[in-house]
Amino acid sequence: MCGIVAATSRKRDIVPLLVQGLKRLEYRGYDSCGVAVWDNGLKRARSVARVAELEEQIQHEHLHGEMGIAHTRWATHGEPLVCNAHPHFAGDEIALIHNGIIENYEEIRAELQAKGVEFSSQTDTEVLAYLVRDCYHGDLLKAVEDALNRVRGAYGIAVFCKQDPSRIVVARQGSPLVIGVGENEMFAASDTMALAGETNNFIYLEDGDVAELLPESYKIFKHVGTEFEAVEREVREVQAFSNAVELGPYRHYMQKEIFEQPRAIADTLEAVREITPAIFGEEAAEIFPEVDRILMIACGTSYYAAMTSKYWFEAIAGIPCDVEIASEYRYRKSVPNPRTLVVTISQSGETADTLAALKHARELGMDKTLTVCNVATSAMVRESRLHFITRAGVEIGVASTKAFTTQLTALFLLTLTLAKINGRLTAEDENLYMTQLRHVPKAVSSVLALEPLIIGWTSRFADKEHALFLGRGIHYPIALEGALKLKEISYIHAEAYPAGELKHGPLALVDESIPVVTVAPNDQLFEKLKSNMKEVEARRGELYVFADSDTGLSSSEHIHVIRMPENYGALSPILHVVTLQLLAYHTALIRGNDVDKPRNLAKSVTVE
Ligand code: G6P
Repeated sequence: MCGIVAATSRKRDIVPLLVQGLKRLEYRGYDSCGVAVWDNGLKRARSVARVAELEEQIQHEHLHGEMGIAHTRWATHGEPLVCNAHPHFAGDEIALIHNGIIENYEEIRAELQAKGVEFSSQTDTEVLAYLVRDCYHGDLLKAVEDALNRVRGAYGIAVFCKQDPSRIVVARQGSPLVIGVGENEMFAASDTMALAGETNNFIYLEDGDVAELLPESYKIFKHVGTEFEAVEREVREVQAFSNAVELGPYRHYMQKEIFEQPRAIADTLEAVREITPAIFGEEAAEIFPEVDRILMIACGTSYYAAMTSKYWFEAIAGIPCDVEIASEYRYRKSVPNPRTLVVTISQSGETADTLAALKHARELGMDKTLTVCNVATSAMVRESRLHFITRAGVEIGVASTKAFTTQLTALFLLTLTLAKINGRLTAEDENLYMTQLRHVPKAVSSVLALEPLIIGWTSRFADKEHALFLGRGIHYPIALEGALKLKEISYIHAEAYPAGELKHGPLALVDESIPVVTVAPNDQLFEKLKSNMKEVEARRGELYVFADSDTGLSSSEHIHVIRMPENYGALSPILHVVTLQLLAYHTALIRGNDVDKPRNLAKSVTVE
């Protein structure tokens, strides 16, 4: 999703830093990019190509300066055209970049047009730039504050003006923004990663904050009503890592991240010595015994992790569990129960809908909140009373892989913890589950060794336009996740169904042209799943089955079987999903797609 980098310095040309920052934000997904600097006037370069092309343009146009702002844009208002790319200028006075959406931009646009402003883009951002200019009477900070009092919506912004060209004003409402504190230079970015190597001192702005940056100083103000009051925010020492992680022997970050799963799961388990509420935070011992329901909220792949864990919570911990898509939950009328544990799941911890849904649940009086997240400093973690930080490491591929399996690991730990509190986990069970959990990294490695067999299938998928995924029970969400992976990166239309639903509709689609991928663990539903597979076979469907070896399933004319190394009981979803990740990856590869940056998608969706 959109990215922001800004810098003001007394000692160097900051354009290389801005470009480097944009490169590090590329993985989040974008369709245009741009840089603006002060160089005896407002100067900018914008492009609808990659940051590498923007860099060439910058060199060609000799863009340099000690202060500047840079942006990667993921189009919301207005197509991905150069005229819509940021930075936006208001005449030759104001330059502005913006993440998020200004909801009332149309009325402000009309008002400014009536005053004679001629807009050159279709964006809400250009409207904000002109609004700042309209509010400017010699003090940029005041102009930004006045402009923000007029707008509704979500934003992370950085602005500068020609009258005071070493000062940058930044503000945050709903879109992440950090200040980086340097020596005689000050930075801002939507992600610390963009500033890795430049500083380790960061201030995480809170919603409603506005800050003024000069090379040697900064001031932060918080929004109180329509006023802004000076506020102190903690400077945290954070070792920011750049995403310029070596690809090593891998062709793509997604492939690398699939293969990192054994390590990511082991790291996630490393700090866990025993099953105790303390692994979810200090207050957990007090909160968990008061819980009689779970409400899980998430988007995308994280939503499928939530769906999977519902089966664990109900079967192992005996706690009723509801799972909600964040963008639906936040807008529907629901019946709150204050004894509910509200669990938000998010790789990034910044997904706008999930964050808003968490706040919505709290406003409904449900304050027992827990976030499972891969980013310790994220807004969601800060908004929740309890949290569990997965140790997947930075995930760069837009299609989530290692974040998913580490989320499942965390959610299994939560299941065991709640089961223990509910008196449903004997010491023997606890030992057994913990032994199994600790063996998962090794078991995942054995699944990864199936890659050559999976590659053998993918040539038969690559020319298809549709695919069906089947699973039952706890493997139904895994089928959903498999279908999501395939559609995200191969652009093949893929749907997942609980296999028992086949005859209620999707069977009508089945013929020899549609591959039917089936997740077949050896569980209590296996015999029923076999009947569903017969239904496909009878319609000349082509079945591709990932079966536990002890099912005894083997390949025949229209059934292709890859056997899983071992049956893993309750934890089987973590193993089965890995095969589906590999299937999607290699299919997309044959189709020649940009696997790490699939079209139209963003890594972290910080707008509604
Ligand atoms: C985007 C990403 C998905 C991710 C989803 C939720 O759609 O492309 O990979 O699953 O957001 O993101 P989160 O960071 O909240 O897990």
